[in-house]
Amino acid sequence: MTMKLAQLLKNYRAQQRCLAGFNVNDIYDINAVVSAANQIDLPVMLMTYGPVVELNSTLICRKMVDGFMPKANNPLYLHLDHSTSVDLCKQAIDDGYDSVMIDGSQQSLKENIAMTKEVVNYARSAGVAVEAEIGKIMGRDVQVNSEDDYLASVADVVALYEEAGPDSVAVGIGTAHGFTPTTPKIHFDRLAEIAQAVPAPLVLHGGTGIPDADIQKSIPMGIAKINIGTIVHSTYMRAMHAEIGKDVASAYPPFVAQNIIPEIAEVVCSRLRAIT
Ligand code: 13P
Repeated sequence: MTMKLAQLLKNYRAQQRCLAGFNVNDIYDINAVVSAANQIDLPVMLMTYGPVVELNSTLICRKMVDGFMPKANNPLYLHLDHSTSVDLCKQAIDDGYDSVMIDGSQQSLKENIAMTKEVVNYARSAGVAVEAEIGKIMGRDVQVNSEDDYLASVADVVALYEEAGPDSVAVGIGTAHGFTPTTPKIHFDRLAEIAQAVPAPLVLHGGTGIPDADIQKSIPMGIAKINIGTIVHSTYMRAMHAEIGKDVASAYPPFVAQNIIPEIAEVVCSRLRAIT
């Protein structure tokens, strides 16, 4: 039987290993991630953002991933990424997700703790793992004015972890979502302080722009999971655009997909090699 995700992440932090989570959108990028995970021989997490589950549903996403289970040589974990809605987390839990992220990082600490606690209580009996966030991951529409704005405070991480009891904590330590004009400066000193203060597996967001060396440095410091999104979907879109452009009139989705899946899988493989 597949190990529950909360236990796997705990083991990974103790063993100084890291699980990679990839944001996916449809059967073709899931196909690419599963193929890469088989090539590198690692378990992976498949993560769905809000727009994917809003357009489809958490149940459809669950079924899509279930459909790939027989093709995977290692466990596949399904995760709801960056949900700011407690209700959506509950829906994903009801529909059989392995893990949900409740992102209260834009709220006050008190509200973040309250939201996280509600999801943790709901998830417990279902055996679903909960990821919380503290500090901010920059990029997209997250506004930050100063270091104090995005850097997770050690006291806040301790309060969130002790009062709400999430299974893992995403920490704002300088990373940003998406492609960034300059290489993000990771505050390793803050990561060390946080890891010293809480035993929780820690999560690094913004995997697209983080150099391999920084990823490798962060794993023995307590990072047990890394999230990677933009590089996967942008490779997918660019490759598809090029492929369709060859002959748009006769472009047939499964044939287009067949030709671009290896390119997406190679990007995923390169990220998986970075964590091993
Ligand atoms: P990137 O899009 O920068 O890879 O970040 C993904 C992420 O952190 C999803 O939660």
